[in-house]
Amino acid sequence: MPIASNDRPFASDDEPRRIGAAGAGSASAAAGAGTNAADGPSRVAERVQAVPGSGIRRFFDIIASMDQVISLGVGEPDFVTPWPISEAGIRAIEQGRTHYTSNLGLLELREAIAADLERRYGIEWDPREELLITTGVSEGLDLAARAIINPGDEVIVADPSYAAHAPAVVLAGGTPVPVTTNAAQNFELDPSAVEAAITPRTKALLIAYPSNPTGAVLDRRTLEALADVVKRHDLLVISDEIYDRLVYGGATHTPIAALPGMQERTITLGGFSKSHAMTGWRVAWAAAPSDLFGGMLKIHQYAMMSAPTVAQYAALEAVRAGEEYVISMREEYDRRRQLMWRGFNKLGLACAEPRGAFYAFPSVAQTGYDDETFAEQLLLQEQVAVVPGSAFGAAGAGHVRACYATSYDDIEEALNRIQRFLYQSPMAK
Ligand SMILES: Cc1ncc(COP(=O)(O)O)c(C=O)c1O
Repeated sequence: MPIASNDRPFASDDEPRRIGAAGAGSASAAAGAGTNAADGPSRVAERVQAVPGSGIRRFFDIIASMDQVISLGVGEPDFVTPWPISEAGIRAIEQGRTHYTSNLGLLELREAIAADLERRYGIEWDPREELLITTGVSEGLDLAARAIINPGDEVIVADPSYAAHAPAVVLAGGTPVPVTTNAAQNFELDPSAVEAAITPRTKALLIAYPSNPTGAVLDRRTLEALADVVKRHDLLVISDEIYDRLVYGGATHTPIAALPGMQERTITLGGFSKSHAMTGWRVAWAAAPSDLFGGMLKIHQYAMMSAPTVAQYAALEAVRAGEEYVISMREEYDRRRQLMWRGFNKLGLACAEPRGAFYAFPSVAQTGYDDETFAEQLLLQEQVAVVPGSAFGAAGAGHVRACYATSYDDIEEALNRIQRFLYQSPMAK
């Protein structure tokens, strides 16, 4: 079946740009909104100021000014949305389906998602009272955080983790508490380290496996141990499972909500952006026990009203008939994954096997560069873009994130360029 690849240069709105609320704004916003135009006290709310600006802004400014960059930086599929899915969106426009939907989203779509989750994972969510269609997992994350966090509540997050996770907690008035993961343990979250981070203020655990940026997947045993900790301390879980369909080499994805006693304390977020190459449609779903769902719905109906209608019709086609595309894109990602992580190891950049998502997270510590310098020099000298690991948390330092949702040929060429770059690095001297 045809899956078209989107031959695009580095996308200017790559998600690491959004680290912190200031990341997407102007240069003065990036400074953390310290002062207003008249140099008086900041007019920006304190909790927004508390979100750090992007540490890699300069790096992205450089990319924007360059041609011929091979981008392993952007975290989105290079495929365009499979045509039948796009056609369903076009049909919706032709048929005049251009109005709001119910706040919850199209019932047909919620029912289709509920049936799909039951078939794949054996979890039953009530499409009328526990499933909400959101404007991307990005919105679901914000709703989940705002629905459960009281001022000063602590939320445990893995370090490194997706750039928007800790900011979502801060913007909701909470305090993210990072728990370090490391390459020696394939960046898997250690349940005993989570338990050690729990305080009387801990409200929830925010997890996202398969992981952006590390490609880590948690096996069922580790999830069960995490679930035990969560239940013992009566915590909630926000589980961002946007990469659930992208696991490789015999790895399987288990939703934490599927474990005994966990559904009633878990908000699960899932979507279409990565699995169906639908990042621009802005459509996803959130599933939560009815009390938490009620809180999330309240925010959603005032802040968003409903997810984009045309995108919901496209998503309906994705759930009903998108499986073959998911499988063929996953097969192609797997081919690229093998090339990339083995390639890094051959070059001496130690890289744990990424078992999910579409990222490799090699160490660059042995090159003599820190991760930011490595990324910047690689870009300037060889026009290959990767993201410094420290953009995803302090524990990401010494690594870079490379995305393999780009063509096989480009990955091959990028590896050649990286090899040439390493000959010039302090490591070679
Ligand atoms: C872990 C994770 N969650 C959420 C998102 C955002 O997803 P969406 O496009 O559905 O808003 C991303 C995008 O990169 C991601 O990597």
